[in-house]
Amino acid sequence: MTKLTIRSIKTYVKMKIFEMPIVTREIAIKYLIDHNVVAIPTETVYGLAADATSDEAVAKIYSLKSRPQFNPLIMHVPFIDMVEEWANISEFARELMEEFWNKRGVSISFVLELKKNHPLSLLALAGLSTVAVRRPNHPVAIDILNSLPFPLAAPSANRSNMLSTTTANHVLNNLGKKVPVVDGGSCVVGLESTIVDITQDQMTILRLGAVTDVDLEPFGKVSHANIEGAIKAPGMMRRHYSPQRPLKMDVTQKQPGMALLGFGSCCDADLNLSVNGNLSEAATNLFRYLHELDRDPFSSIGVNAIPNTGIGKAINDRLKRASALI
Ligand code: TXA
Ligand code: MG
Repeated sequence: MTKLTIRSIKTYVKMKIFEMPIVTREIAIKYLIDHNVVAIPTETVYGLAADATSDEAVAKIYSLKSRPQFNPLIMHVPFIDMVEEWANISEFARELMEEFWNKRGVSISFVLELKKNHPLSLLALAGLSTVAVRRPNHPVAIDILNSLPFPLAAPSANRSNMLSTTTANHVLNNLGKKVPVVDGGSCVVGLESTIVDITQDQMTILRLGAVTDVDLEPFGKVSHANIEGAIKAPGMMRRHYSPQRPLKMDVTQKQPGMALLGFGSCCDADLNLSVNGNLSEAATNLFRYLHELDRDPFSSIGVNAIPNTGIGKAINDRLKRASALI
């Protein structure tokens, strides 16, 4: 009996020191309660999650990602009422949350005004008086959130400025074996959520995503934050979401050493985002294929032109940032 216990403790310690394997939801929940980080799947990309009310836990996210501390994190919740504890939800905000989170189950984060006495980690908020929040539409994420009494702060599970991760393997390759990962398969949407500031009861899109102006317009006036102006969401920074190799957009002809990422009925592409020219499929594949082509013997990545409509706008937004030189 004693022998068995010692052996199991040894195994546990060994696991902890030498590798952070793929973990079950139950272990993930235990880690999260203990102020540790866990990478979890969402429908958009994998998130590096931690207790959003714990500075200790949130500090680990910033350190693992090498993320600048002025860049705030999105709070992930299982239901609207949890948000009510720390942010002001106007009638307009509630209508939007019910529609987009509960009825449509789509990927949208709302920026709201914080309440005065909130329990959230100030580090996670980067000193702002607002908070970004979303309900992920992934059964594993929702299951984990439902088992916790606190929201999860979760940026994309990748080192700062690098490509977002859409499989458990990407996370392990990008962040190393230090991070336990819950494997929930490939992310279906493949691009980070649309972020909309609704603090003034109007909609200002801060980051493009699968939810577009067309979806929001029936609810009121929609504007876009001036990307060249004050940076409200650092996801708006020029160079972001980058592979290690230089990336060129609107490429029709391969140059020497270049990997070509095609779209539609294209030429001699190394990979094709969507042979049928389907933009949702292209979004799902975007980060996965960029990860795959960001390797030797290629010295650069070229991408075919992507139609700038619907989610194509968000794809082009990410490609533009990935190709920026600064
Ligand atoms: O789909 C997603 O949103 C993924 C998954 C994991 O949920 N998360 C994600 O997180 O993309 P992250 O940290 O990579 O991007 C969050 C963006 C950042 O650009 C951040 O600046 C912005 O949200 N943000 C967070 N709080 C904000 C706030 N109060 N006001 C404006 N922007 C905010
Ligand atoms: Mg990110």
